[in-house]
Amino acid sequence: MKNYTSIHDIDNLQSWIEEAKSLKQDPLKHITLGKNKTIGLLFFNSSLRTRLSTQKAALNLGMNPIVMNVSGDAWGIEFEDGTIMDGRTAEHIKEAAAVVSQYCDIIAVRAFPTLTDRAKDESEQVLRSFVEHASVPIVNMESATGHPLQGLTDALTISEHAKKSRPKVVLSWAPHIKALPHAVANSFAQAMQKMDVDFVIANPEGYDLSSNIVGSTPIIHNQEAAFKDADFVYVKNWSSYEDYGKIINTDPSWMITKEKLGTAKFMHCLPVRRNVIVEDAVLDSDSSLVIQQANNRTYAAQLVLKKILKDLK
Ligand code: CP
Repeated sequence: MKNYTSIHDIDNLQSWIEEAKSLKQDPLKHITLGKNKTIGLLFFNSSLRTRLSTQKAALNLGMNPIVMNVSGDAWGIEFEDGTIMDGRTAEHIKEAAAVVSQYCDIIAVRAFPTLTDRAKDESEQVLRSFVEHASVPIVNMESATGHPLQGLTDALTISEHAKKSRPKVVLSWAPHIKALPHAVANSFAQAMQKMDVDFVIANPEGYDLSSNIVGSTPIIHNQEAAFKDADFVYVKNWSSYEDYGKIINTDPSWMITKEKLGTAKFMHCLPVRRNVIVEDAVLDSDSSLVIQQANNRTYAAQLVLKKILKDLK
């Protein structure tokens, strides 16, 4: 595999899940695969899980991780072609990506959307520019429209905890005080569409995800109806796609409670705002899989890096 930028880079999700489970059983089995190889983790935005689990994954493969908070510590990077750079930016992506490629065998990038310019966000300008101008493989650590390391993690977690062959999985919107990206919800939906699950999306009117993501997945605007007979409830806030990047509903009745959840397992990518997205009683119960999910971030990242390392020239 050259790059991992989207869930669509997964050729066979079930076989990837089985391989990730096997890595989890023996995380240091391939400790020599990444010997003398360096991965550069470039963060344009904050992170706890992605930053640490991707480093841990690299270390488990014997790689040397180097990390940079690009927004805070590097020169401002210009992504537009042909610009007169007499403003905020001091270095063009053409030089930056070429230079970092000389220090690293793999580059991983986190760059969130603007949430103000849908066309620009959907063009994935930052991620695409790294793919175009770097000479080494690129891994998406959450971009404007996708978080495929998280999506792979979530598929692995559902596979581990499923008690029946075709579980019902609900992706539910929940309220939040800030306008949040669609990336996690997008990649989760794409992962579920590749899995043998009964998958539905629950969100208020005005919060439908892009039709390119939803495809033929049913959208239900009534949370209670959507949760009926659910085995897994995956919760995430996202801002409106239609009224792009806006908060048009903060209805607290969409918060997840223990009563609503019933016997289903609760999932969330974290970080999560307690008693806004979900009440304490859920997170503090055995119904919550959020800690197990976060643990699986290491093995999802390790699988992706292993596949890239195997194909490095
Ligand atoms: N789930 C996730 O990507 O967490 P971080 O933003 O902390 O990396």
